[in-house]
Amino acid sequence: MEKLHVLVTAPLVETDIDRIAATDPRVEVTYAAEEVRAELGITATKPIPWGRTMGQRELTAEQASQALDRMLSHTEVIFGWRLPLNLMSRAPRLKWVQGVAAGVDLLAGKSGLLQSDVPLSNIGGINATTVSEFALCLMLMVAKKAPHLLSNKGARRWEPFVASELNGKTVGIVGLGRIGREIARLARAFTMRVLALDESVAVREEHMAAVDEFFSTGGLLQMLPECDFAVLAVPLTPETRGLIGEAELKAMKPTSYLINVARGPIIKQDVLIQALKERWIAGAALDVFEVEPLPGDSELWGLPNIIISPHIAGFMEQHNVKVTELFCENLKRFLNGEEPHNLVDKKRGF
Ligand code: GLV
Repeated sequence: MEKLHVLVTAPLVETDIDRIAATDPRVEVTYAAEEVRAELGITATKPIPWGRTMGQRELTAEQASQALDRMLSHTEVIFGWRLPLNLMSRAPRLKWVQGVAAGVDLLAGKSGLLQSDVPLSNIGGINATTVSEFALCLMLMVAKKAPHLLSNKGARRWEPFVASELNGKTVGIVGLGRIGREIARLARAFTMRVLALDESVAVREEHMAAVDEFFSTGGLLQMLPECDFAVLAVPLTPETRGLIGEAELKAMKPTSYLINVARGPIIKQDVLIQALKERWIAGAALDVFEVEPLPGDSELWGLPNIIISPHIAGFMEQHNVKVTELFCENLKRFLNGEEPHNLVDKKRGF
């Protein structure tokens, strides 16, 4: 029986790996999350919330690259969060890559995958609920002054104040994919006015009823002045990189907030810092940053009008189990010669 060599570069626990191996007797799994981390020079500062992952050991970049060279020479399928450097020249037998996130920018990195013919799938909408809940949570935290409450609690200070409401406010959602649509649905439940911007005519036509007013990509500067909250839910592509800069931040109301649950580089971070300091906008709530982990000396940490979370909006309860289930389902399809679910259009980048 011919083997199918699957390389896992996503941080998983042993039961997940066993589950992948049990998908089919042909499947042979190699776990290489640590090798990829070491090769890319990503420091293991981020504990993985679903427990101790397998094979946590210290490797030099050179040891890691040598080990990866050996593994990649026969790898046919990758299930990953990040990919090895120069993947395409090192993995001549590669037939399919399944990403472990909705966005594929961090996965593809400098691997050359997006420029190749090898199909790539993502996790589709499985984390849309948790990401959109997080976006609503950030809006509620801002409206209800949660940072102020928490600092008062720390100081044992009883200090009544009037919080604001989401009811009647306007939210502008940039990107009406599965996450953006769920944010729209939740915002409507809070009786907010929902504006949305999406580049696709088909999306705008199909989801007309989900929003109060639609804008096409060129309409960003028209939409932003109307927003009390602008929420970014677009993938990072060459078109969206740096989308929010000086003109956009100056177009927003001084009372408005910018929420980012997408990718850091969509905002020009140095311009945002200036906007927050000079109060072009009231504040921001960011889950993602240009550089992650956000460096300890970043000016963002010191600003009073910002909420910072460590790229966690997409984490779900039972995260590793859910993404592994999705991969196993796709792996069965692949073994049956069927197309995997959630194939990414690599030209568009999502
Ligand atoms: C998380 O960042 C994701 O892209 O799913």
